[in-house]
Amino acid sequence: MSNYTALKTAIITAIQAANDLGSLEQVRVAELGKKGKLAEVMSSLGKMAPDERKAVGAELNVIKSEINEAFAARKAALEQEALAQKLAAEKIDITLSPRPENMGRVHPIPQVIDEVIAIFANQGFVVAEGPDVDTDWHNFTALNIPESHPARQMHDTFYLKALDDKGAPLLLRTHTSTVQSRVMLNQKPPLRVLAPGRTFRSDSDQTHTPMFHQIEGFVVDKTTHFGHLKGCLIDFVRAFFEMPDVPVRFRPSFFPFTEPSAEMDIGCSRKDGGLKIGAGDSWLEILGCGMIHPAVLKNCGIDPNEYQGFAFGMGVERLAMLKYGIPDLRSFFGGDTRWLNHYGFSAHDVPSVPTGLSR
Ligand code: DAH
Repeated sequence: MSNYTALKTAIITAIQAANDLGSLEQVRVAELGKKGKLAEVMSSLGKMAPDERKAVGAELNVIKSEINEAFAARKAALEQEALAQKLAAEKIDITLSPRPENMGRVHPIPQVIDEVIAIFANQGFVVAEGPDVDTDWHNFTALNIPESHPARQMHDTFYLKALDDKGAPLLLRTHTSTVQSRVMLNQKPPLRVLAPGRTFRSDSDQTHTPMFHQIEGFVVDKTTHFGHLKGCLIDFVRAFFEMPDVPVRFRPSFFPFTEPSAEMDIGCSRKDGGLKIGAGDSWLEILGCGMIHPAVLKNCGIDPNEYQGFAFGMGVERLAMLKYGIPDLRSFFGGDTRWLNHYGFSAHDVPSVPTGLSR
């Protein structure tokens, strides 16, 4: 074995013995750097006779490239190892479930909205949304509530200073029915839409807050009739109140955007100041509904000779108060965490019809 081969073996052994990137770098400086052993040997070439230099030079070149290869391979292996160690150290154990007591509680409003969505999703409805700041046309005119219609006064509307492109003041939407006009203008029937959201009216007392929540639903198709409306809503209240036989009745009513219009009541009993849903000789109104007025379809670009539909609208706070026995409307907006701990829901329990709406 020539001296050069022995040197090669020594250097490669040192490279392989390096067990982290720092010691590998030390080996590089000591053996392969400008002042390293290999450089020393290379510089001795200059003193050799031409023939010897040629032979030794060729041998040294082979040795050098073998050493370089060994170095590169060791470096890659150590880098890989370092990366693996770093990843292992930074790993987040996502199998560890969060502690529910630290996750806060879901407010009854989003809870009830999620429950209602779960029920109607089962009937093939999809969720749509519209803006809180709306135009007079979408909120009123399109829904067959023309200017000077007395129903406009009933809505206690908040008007804004800003004007829409027709020159009418923008407003805070007074009902989620306005999503009807937006969806009908932008989508083609058949439609099965549920529109939950915030609504606003300039009204504030024990039973009214200036901001509250509604859920609008509507169906437009060629053969949709009042029987569909009844079936759909009866199924809904039974699922929502989790009572398969809750009594219901439809009472004639008036809304400008539906004809005929009705209000739906559920059976209840009122005894000793308490309200019990599900049986008894009393009735409780829970939503407004009706067949979509042909004028509304027409205003929104749908041919009323070809299509018809039904719509319904309900107040979320009212549903929540009835289902969960919450006595005071204003407490929804009080921001009291003790109230939320009492009436709130676990973030783990996502409402679904098959697994249960509320726990
Ligand atoms: N928009 C009505 C309100 O705010 C609720 C309503 C009643 C919606 C009847 C409807 C309906 O779609 O058919 O009081």
